[in-house]
Amino acid sequence: MEFSIRAAVLEDCKDIARMTKELSEYEKVTDQVTITQKDLEQDGFSKNPFFHGIIAEVPEQHRTKEGHVKIGYALYFYSYSSWKGRAIYMEDLYVMPEFRGIGKALMSKVAQLGMAAGCTQLNFTVLDWNKSSMDFYLSQGCFDVTGDMGYHCMRCDGEALERLAQP
Ligand SMILES: CC(C)(COP(=O)(O)OP(=O)(O)OC[C@H]1O[C@@H](n2cnc3c(N)ncnc32)[C@H](O)[C@@H]1OP(=O)(O)O)[C@@H](O)C(=O)NCCC(=O)NCCS
Repeated sequence: MEFSIRAAVLEDCKDIARMTKELSEYEKVTDQVTITQKDLEQDGFSKNPFFHGIIAEVPEQHRTKEGHVKIGYALYFYSYSSWKGRAIYMEDLYVMPEFRGIGKALMSKVAQLGMAAGCTQLNFTVLDWNKSSMDFYLSQGCFDVTGDMGYHCMRCDGEALERLAQP
C-alpha cells in the first residue's frame, strides 16, 4: 500500500479528532473523551504547542468509502527524565483497520524525531487487555515498564486536582 507520513498541520485537526474518537472506541473509553477539533487546533498549533503530530496519508485512489485519505496518526510531545535526560512521549498511535500494516512506519517516525532531538527514551502506555498492540510494541523491542520495573501510571484530575491546586 502506497502511503506517506508527514508532520501534522492545523488543517489535519478535523481528521485527528475523528481518529482519536475511533481510537477511543477501539479502547472502549469513548465516555472519557472530551477533546474537540478546536482544542486540538489551539493546543497543537498555537505559539507554544502542547503536542506535535504526524499523519499517514494514502493517495486519492485509496480513499475510504467515506472519503478519508488521512488514515493514521501519532501524537507526541517532549518530556524529561531526571535520570536519563531528554525523552519523547507518544500519546497516541493509530491506524484505521483497513490500512493496518503501516503502524511500524508511524512509530519509527516518532522514534526518528525523538532521536533527532537528542532523546534516549520513547515512552507510552498501552491498556492491559490490548494484547495485539502490546505484542506489536514487544515485537519492536519495547518493554513493559510496569511489569519489569514496577512503575504504575498515576493521575490526579477533576475535583482532586482542583483541591490539590488550592494554595
Ligand atoms: C497498534 C497499531 C498502530 C499497529 O499498526 P499496524 O499497522 O497494525 O502495525 P504494522 O503492521 O506496521 O506492524 C508491523 C510490525 O509489528 C509486528 N506486529 C504487528 N502486530 C503484531 C501482533 N499482534 N503481534 C506480534 N507482532 C505484531 C509485525 O510482525 C511487524 O514486525 P516486523 O516488521 O518487525 O516483522 C495498529 O494495529 C492500531 O492502530 N491498533 C488499534 C489502536 C491501538 O491499539 N493503538 C495503540 C494504542 S496504545
